[in-house]
Amino acid sequence: MTTPLPVSFVAEDLDSHTSSTGTLVVFTDTKGGLTPAAEHLDGLTGGALTRATGADGYKPSPGKTTTLNYASGVSADRLILASLGEDPDRDAARRAGGAIAKALASGNVTICTQGAGDVGLVAEAVFATVIRLHEFSDYKKSGSDEDKPRTITVTSGEPEALASASNDFAALAEGIFFTRDLVNEPANTLTTDEFAARLAAMGEMGLEVEILGEPELKAMGANALLGVGLGSDNETKLVVMKWMGGGDEAPRALVGKGVIFDTGGISLKPSGGMEDMTMDMGGAGVVSGVMRTLALRKAKANVVGVVGLVENMPDARAQRPGDIVKSMKGDTIEIIITDAVGRLLLADALWYTQETFKPSGIIDLATLTGAIMVALGKHYAGLFSNNDDLAAQLPAAGEATGERVWRMPLGPEYDKMIDSKFADMKNIGGRWGGSCTAAQFLKRFVGETPWAHLDIAGTAMASPANDINTSWGSGYGVRLRDQLVSDVYEG
Ligand code: BES
Ligand code: MN
Repeated sequence: MTTPLPVSFVAEDLDSHTSSTGTLVVFTDTKGGLTPAAEHLDGLTGGALTRATGADGYKPSPGKTTTLNYASGVSADRLILASLGEDPDRDAARRAGGAIAKALASGNVTICTQGAGDVGLVAEAVFATVIRLHEFSDYKKSGSDEDKPRTITVTSGEPEALASASNDFAALAEGIFFTRDLVNEPANTLTTDEFAARLAAMGEMGLEVEILGEPELKAMGANALLGVGLGSDNETKLVVMKWMGGGDEAPRALVGKGVIFDTGGISLKPSGGMEDMTMDMGGAGVVSGVMRTLALRKAKANVVGVVGLVENMPDARAQRPGDIVKSMKGDTIEIIITDAVGRLLLADALWYTQETFKPSGIIDLATLTGAIMVALGKHYAGLFSNNDDLAAQLPAAGEATGERVWRMPLGPEYDKMIDSKFADMKNIGGRWGGSCTAAQFLKRFVGETPWAHLDIAGTAMASPANDINTSWGSGYGVRLRDQLVSDVYEG
């Protein structure tokens, strides 16, 4: 597993930089002038930084860094000049942090932030540096560890305030790394057993974790979920993670799709690109990462995370097109295509969640449809909701965190498209509006509970590399959900 580099925060001590080794990161201030550490190093190097900022075309810009190697007068091998830009906001801070991470090489790193910007923005920038450094190299003989920074020390005029502003970010980074690892991990390692074991291990963090296996699921009548796994040797499971850090109020629930591998089943997918379907547990990965973050930062909220873990394989015992299954709710579903499985898993997971925990709201996350990528590309997740308040909170959290969502429609027209000849509904709705009919299907399993569904098929993996992520599994959604908890549940 990959863990974020620990960061220590210390008081700025300019004289120490003469003998600092490794990499020193310094800043220009919002007006393009040198911060105290930058000015000090400028003196030691005979004006190297003044020359760099005086060069034609230099502009303090959050996405840019200037690197000076082996400057005379200092022991550090590398000086990196960065900036939060002229009018910094959270987005600029993230870009600056990402640019710093990109410029780093091996050895120890000291980031001198006094005068670079306000404490909240500096904390955000340092967080971005840390999460940009995520790399999933467990399976490479020679991981690129040698070229990676080993320690990060951040100097500041207000080290205590910065350390406390960074506490929640450290918990968030842990959650994001956990999710990215789960998404990147191949299905021969990340079996349903292994996935459940990683979640059970979070019991140490104060989460209450309960694992329901096939006998329990059979007894509950969760046949829609169980049907998905009939062709697999991996046991189908439902894992419940509870964080009860709030008062007596009803919990909010997060539900995730955890198909550890989606071959399409008997409706087998074409082989080109099928290897990507190892990420079809992305929704469950996000729910797990958020729960980890909430526990680590001891959130003052009651949140229940529920993930369905299952593998969709073709086999003599596998579910067939034409089969009719009875869901836990009691509604019957005609399977038209065995590839449309996320909604089957979620039908039971959502119903179980709302019946068992009576949550005041449910948000599910799922890599549900290729169609959402056709609609929104890979930069926005699709949002569907039966509740306008909840539907307004998510885009706001999305803008604040850079993990954006776009609301899509539900309606009786889509309901009609999933009517079945023999059963209460069928599991696909025809050629058009595939993400909408899938969401409409889910809506039937949440009763009156305020509910939102995020289709993250486009954003969970292989999103375009950005300022804070170069990993295939993006971890998209962890920050968004954590932000919603702190804005709304704890607010
Ligand atoms: N796991 C896929 C959705 C998906 C596709 C995620 C591409 C990421 C990239 C899902 O289980 C699926 O197969 N959906 C089908 C639904 C269809 C059969 C109605 C799809 O989108 O093609
Ligand atoms: Mn599928």
